[in-house]
Amino acid sequence: MCGITGYVGLRSAAPLLIAGLEKLEYRGYDSSGIGVLPADHSKIEIAKTPGKIKVLKDLLAANPLPQANLGISHSRWATHGAPTKSNAHPHFDGSQKILVVHNGIIENYEELKVRLQQKGHKFLSQTDTEVVPHLIEEYYRGDFLAAVQKALKELKGSFALGILCSDYPDTLIAARLGSPLIVGIGKNENFIASDVPAILDQTKKVVYLKDGELAVLKKDSVAVYDLAGKKVPLKVDTVKFSVESVQKQGFAHFMLKEIHEQPDVVGHMLKSRVCGDNVVLDGLSLSDRQLKKTLRIFIVACGTAYHAGLLGKYLIEKFAHIPVGVEAASEFRYREQLVDKNTLVIAISQSGETADTLAAVKECRNKGAKVLAVCNVVGSSLTRESDGVLYTHAGPEIGVASTKAYTAQLTMLYLLALKLGDVTGILSKGEQKSFISELKRIPEHFREILKSKALIAKIAKPYAHVGCFLFLGRNINYPSALEGALKLKEISYIPAEGYAAGEMKHGPIALIDEYRAVVCIAPQSEIYEKMISNMQEIRARKGKIIAIATEGDEGIVAHATNVIYIPKTHELLTPLLAALPLQLLAYYVAVQLKCDVDQPRNLAKSVTVE
Ligand code: M6R
Repeated sequence: MCGITGYVGLRSAAPLLIAGLEKLEYRGYDSSGIGVLPADHSKIEIAKTPGKIKVLKDLLAANPLPQANLGISHSRWATHGAPTKSNAHPHFDGSQKILVVHNGIIENYEELKVRLQQKGHKFLSQTDTEVVPHLIEEYYRGDFLAAVQKALKELKGSFALGILCSDYPDTLIAARLGSPLIVGIGKNENFIASDVPAILDQTKKVVYLKDGELAVLKKDSVAVYDLAGKKVPLKVDTVKFSVESVQKQGFAHFMLKEIHEQPDVVGHMLKSRVCGDNVVLDGLSLSDRQLKKTLRIFIVACGTAYHAGLLGKYLIEKFAHIPVGVEAASEFRYREQLVDKNTLVIAISQSGETADTLAAVKECRNKGAKVLAVCNVVGSSLTRESDGVLYTHAGPEIGVASTKAYTAQLTMLYLLALKLGDVTGILSKGEQKSFISELKRIPEHFREILKSKALIAKIAKPYAHVGCFLFLGRNINYPSALEGALKLKEISYIPAEGYAAGEMKHGPIALIDEYRAVVCIAPQSEIYEKMISNMQEIRARKGKIIAIATEGDEGIVAHATNVIYIPKTHELLTPLLAALPLQLLAYYVAVQLKCDVDQPRNLAKSVTVE
């Protein structure tokens, strides 16, 4: 969602701040702004505008900011108030001494605003954020840090803040509660950012601020304080991934690059997590004895991660006979959670910052359940809120549409299900061995599928103007149908619904005519014939069909308008293979429609607010 960058050092701040914002563009935003404080100048200067960062750059080219070595910048994804200039960050206090950028939501802003208005504060925006600089102003008596500390105690909700004060031309204050924020440590310069890619080409040394922490940055020092105002020791981590991993490297879009990374991502996961015929789940933090005692599992997640969770249910129930409930975290968090110490909650999230997933996890932990995170981003909030973490290590995912993170989540769920199958004794050693050997072939199968991308692009072309899509799958490929539909609709804006194929006659069949398309996920399986029957019913109503079928299945050609083949594999592994053609199909339809594939409208990469 919103992005923050901040800089204090010897170099010119504005270009670094803008470059940082550009690296965060993938998070999704609809306005942006910047504020700088020149050392010889007692006044903070700002520029802000609705629209893309390019618009802000054009504005700055026409009206340059003064040279300064200190500043903050922000890209805003509108929550409170439309994406207008006045609602864009940064926001001033009344005296224009204090300047704030903010990610998250100040939940008690209305009450604070009324109180501040009664004291004479005038507000210029509809945002919740604007109460923050005014509250700091209220407490400011010449001591910047003390005023911020007092104000923070009154804020409820979630926030990451970057704050300047015109009386302190060498100081940048940052604070975090619930929304991610990091400090980047440089030589004679320091940075803040809401995500690592913003500063990766400047420094790899970072401090991941914890909830309730506040950092005071000067060019040659960083001090971190807790909520009580006590200094805490600085824990500096080194970011493992490279600058190249957050660049397109010749691909037209990050999404396409990330689709192509999947053979390596899954290959690395299998190399590091499978030793001989055994699954090794470092980070699980649960002994075999504890796992054996697990009577029930809940999987909570959102969006694509939720679809991965749905497959997890099939796998765990099949391999380990443990009942699994899967729920969208946004629903789960608000109902009676029937969890206890014998329940394992698996929270799946690429970013580890999804507000609903985090809230669901907190509720479950309070009730005594153990929480295991399946997460991509190292050090994210979810990993800190969980008892165990299985990192997928898929590398930074920049495209808003999740691709490699999804197949990495699926792979982790196969491994976890195998482990549970082993511990419970439901899966024999022989069964494990033969399944693992098929699993190990997935990267090679992925490479094969990627070779057919030109064909998929050709197939996609005429479908770009179809008014509506249905995606049908059965059993383990029902989640694939949901994911295929989500992928297409989020990047091409074509209405698309995923359905369990058996449900077709209970409503969706009414949609079918010659103007609609149906993607049928029909690999060889026990229920193959049933999918063929569904396809015949669609054809009888003149619907166009794209079938995803197993290599060698020539019979299916008679039932479909187009066929995309995937290599032959174990039936239970077909959702992994089906994911790639579905991603590529969505991608090429969106490209054909000239959509902004990496930053689809209205969407944010990590949904850090409810
Ligand atoms: O970071 P998370 O995995 O928790 O994100 C969950 C969803 O917001 C995410 O999967 C979203 O649905 C993607 N845009 C799907 O491509």
